[in-house]
Amino acid sequence: MKMKQRTIENFMYTMIKNGFGEPYKEVEEYFSNKDSKNKDVLDVGSGQGRNSLMLSDFGFNVTSIDLSRVGIKQMQERARERYLSIEGIEGDVLEYEFTKRFDYILVDMVLHTFKSKENVQFFLKKMRHIIKNNGEMCMIFPIEDEVYEYAKGIVNKTEEQWVEVSSSMIRVTHKMFGLTRKFEFAMYVIKNKDV
Ligand SMILES: C[S@@+](CC[C@H](N)C(=O)[O-])C[C@H]1O[C@@H](n2cnc3c(N)ncnc32)[C@H](O)[C@@H]1O
Repeated sequence: MKMKQRTIENFMYTMIKNGFGEPYKEVEEYFSNKDSKNKDVLDVGSGQGRNSLMLSDFGFNVTSIDLSRVGIKQMQERARERYLSIEGIEGDVLEYEFTKRFDYILVDMVLHTFKSKENVQFFLKKMRHIIKNNGEMCMIFPIEDEVYEYAKGIVNKTEEQWVEVSSSMIRVTHKMFGLTRKFEFAMYVIKNKDV
């Protein structure tokens, strides 16, 4: 399954550069209002790096992880062109053993690719171990996906140990891998319940 996904992403990324376009303005606004000095951000499923590059431009220390070798390579090439330094990891976020903790975790259009509620649950538990106290996780995902129903309910559930900071909608018409269409995404920011 992962192998198949990796192959599809590698193929699409090779065919079309910067296929996801520019970062959503809501994501840009959220991070531009934060103090980036000495702050570590993990970009989960960083794709071709549109968000990682923006975050590094803002001055955050950025670590990007993606299944796609091509995506990580393209992101690092674009970072070099801008004289930015971003740590890129080709790996599976559900399996990778992180050795540091993060002030922010960004999960833009990735949750729905985990395919099952169990994987999303596992992911959220794992992220709790690598987010710093008072750290925040920003998640964007399509509302038509069934993961929406689940992710909507994750906050305020004691077993998940996350609490909602904010929730909003992102409505955009944009070009994604050559196709222009309307998208509706949910954007949730959550943090550890017990800090
Ligand atoms: C729809 S793309 C979004 C890319 C990027 N976040 C953006 O918004 O431009 C989803 C990305 O998540 C990656 N991905 C999916 N499952 C993953 C996993 N378990 N570990 C790491 N990356 C994963 C895919 O390889 C793909 O590049």
